[in-house]
Amino acid sequence: MNSILITGCNRGLGLGVVKALVKLSKPPQHIFATCRNLEKAKELQDLARCHPSIHIMEIDLMDFKKYDDLVKQIGDVVRNEGLNVLLNNAGYAPKSTRITTVKLKDLMLSLQTNTIVPVMLSKACLPLLKQASKSNGKMGMSVKRAAIINMSSILGSIEANTDGAMYPYRTSKAALNAATKSLSIDLLKDGILCVCLHPGWVRTDMGGSNAPLDVHTSTTKIIETLFNFNEANNGGFFQYDGKKLPW
Ligand SMILES: NC(=O)c1ccc[n+]([C@@H]2O[C@H](COP(=O)([O-])OP(=O)(O)OC[C@H]3O[C@@H](n4cnc5c(N)ncnc54)[C@H](OP(=O)(O)O)[C@@H]3O)[C@@H](O)[C@H]2O)c1
Repeated sequence: MNSILITGCNRGLGLGVVKALVKLSKPPQHIFATCRNLEKAKELQDLARCHPSIHIMEIDLMDFKKYDDLVKQIGDVVRNEGLNVLLNNAGYAPKSTRITTVKLKDLMLSLQTNTIVPVMLSKACLPLLKQASKSNGKMGMSVKRAAIINMSSILGSIEANTDGAMYPYRTSKAALNAATKSLSIDLLKDGILCVCLHPGWVRTDMGGSNAPLDVHTSTTKIIETLFNFNEANNGGFFQYDGKKLPW
């Protein structure tokens, strides 16, 4: 993998993925790591000082009109090689989750952050992803060729929902899963692998302190799993260690 764009890299799993990638024996040449606010991305900035492969890009992903500029900046770096991977990681999980307390603004914000952002960013990155796929045209489907990886959640699984509630988060991740499936069908001819990934329940601001997994364990496995994906995984829903999940 020569290049990867990861959203939400100032903390949590996004930052963990960047850390895991730079530790690889053959790290990507270019890691485009987005954050909403540079001031709140001190750890990412420290990491970037030691690893020139990390390009920090400041963007509020709700600012859809900035996507073209983001893509242009990436294109200027990767040139003819295109972008191998888009990892839509940034996400939002509000506190109001029960049907009696759920708030309209939380439903809207979750849908925007967890579904609309990944779809619109995938759309914006398509030319770069297609370019990467074309320049590695002899390869089978793989993150080394071209891929869109959407960070979903088991809470988006309709089949695995036994507890109810969590309306904003569950619906937005279920919608993300549906969008990923469509992407996998629509982009098959372009050789772009599209997969939904559940990182496990991980100790981050979102996952909370009771989660069984730490960021290092989840993200190290995620990277291993990403490198094992091929045609057979296209359009699927998997967890961090490669286990297939129910829709
Ligand atoms: N942790 C878990 O147990 C778990 C389980 C299943 C799935 N996931 C998924 O994994 C992904 C990462 O989760 P996490 O645990 O690392 O969450 P986190 O610690 O809450 O971090 C969320 C990240 O998303 C960014 N973000 C949110 N809205 C944004 C926006 N409008 N523009 C730019 N960045 C935005 C945040 O930036 P700011 O700092 O600027 O807010 C932050 O970097 C999410 O998609 C989440 O749904 C997590």
